[in-house]
Amino acid sequence: MARINENYQKLQAGYLFPEIGRRTRAFAEAKPDAQLIRLGIGDVTLPLVPAVVEAMRRAAEEQGSADGVHGYADEAYPFLSDAIREHDFRARGVEVAADEIFVSDGSKQDSGNIQEIFGADVSFAVTDPVYPVYVDTNVMAGRTGPADEGGRYGGITYLPATEENGFAPSPPGERVDLVYLCSPNNPTGAVAPRANLEAWVAWARANDAVLLFDAAYDAFIQDPALPRSIYEIEGARECAIEMRSFSKRAGFTGVRCAYTVVPKELTGSTAGGERVALNGLWARRQATKFNGVPYVVQRAAEAVFSEEGRKQTGEQVAYYMANARAVREGLGAAGFTLFGGEHSPYIWMKTPDGLGSWDCFDRLLEQTHVVTTPGAGFGAAGEGYVRISSFNSRENVDEAIARILEAFGG
Ligand code: MLT
Repeated sequence: MARINENYQKLQAGYLFPEIGRRTRAFAEAKPDAQLIRLGIGDVTLPLVPAVVEAMRRAAEEQGSADGVHGYADEAYPFLSDAIREHDFRARGVEVAADEIFVSDGSKQDSGNIQEIFGADVSFAVTDPVYPVYVDTNVMAGRTGPADEGGRYGGITYLPATEENGFAPSPPGERVDLVYLCSPNNPTGAVAPRANLEAWVAWARANDAVLLFDAAYDAFIQDPALPRSIYEIEGARECAIEMRSFSKRAGFTGVRCAYTVVPKELTGSTAGGERVALNGLWARRQATKFNGVPYVVQRAAEAVFSEEGRKQTGEQVAYYMANARAVREGLGAAGFTLFGGEHSPYIWMKTPDGLGSWDCFDRLLEQTHVVTTPGAGFGAAGEGYVRISSFNSRENVDEAIARILEAFGG
């Protein structure tokens, strides 16, 4: 008999978004006439921009020609890593080498897989609420005890992200090996101010810890003075790995392209105290388990950085941000308590009438046919909130606001 990995049995119910999907489908089957508006999972709704479509079409034609075919793409093609270096980093005063950039098929995978290069017994901290992938992948790997009644796993250091700390927790008093950070934050929509990131980098260096910095939503930052990359903070190259994605910034959720930066200065240690570069470990892991991002997709990602690509994808981001503003203004004026949505496509809303997160989710679904994401699904400290995504058409967002105001007497 094949023994299973019993760590999987520690996991709480299903993964959050399939559970929301299940409840939504059950509702739609029971009420087939309901006009559902989906502001739950952060999935883009606008089509790929013309610059990207044209690049994909050209690349597909190349792939169909005898002398243009490209096979396995074990590494980033230089045309893409050069564009990333220039536009995502050099433009912000940061130098990143080509062999520090690992192109992949998504930040979900990268943020889930990165724990593999660390020891089975490393300690780690997450903010609470948090993107569930960081926690679940460590549970699967056996780094936690079972969950308590509130859904918190033994062995994890949870850093509550609250209204009081602006949803940007400070470093903990105790030492941990790894810390997952995400800014702009999923789910709270908060952005970490420079001083907060400086405190994290100083703490990580003092504690010989590694920061796993998820910047999948950086394109939504509206204030140019706010850091987009952790490497804008001095000293971060020695203590941080960064993950970026094309999913939300360029509508690539169904195309799949992201990248992770592992600076060469960054090291971990063996049990015997020998320092080992994490760049080499991640390179080794990827070479073994991943055959690269398709040529067509890498050409599509390159096109995001062209002049037209930047303009067109920038307009899409602005479109979603106008939706976020409409939610903030529409619901805010009616007395709802809202956070985020200023540098992020997500709005973090306090549930009205002291409702629990899932009760609020169910009530919104049943009474307004609007799908949201219950805050408790992101961790115990998310209880009492729901997340509203601005990834939808303006028409649907306006309609959702009107229905919520009507149902909740705003
Ligand atoms: C979300 O809604 O939190 C995201 O779309 C999930 C993801 O990026 O995997």
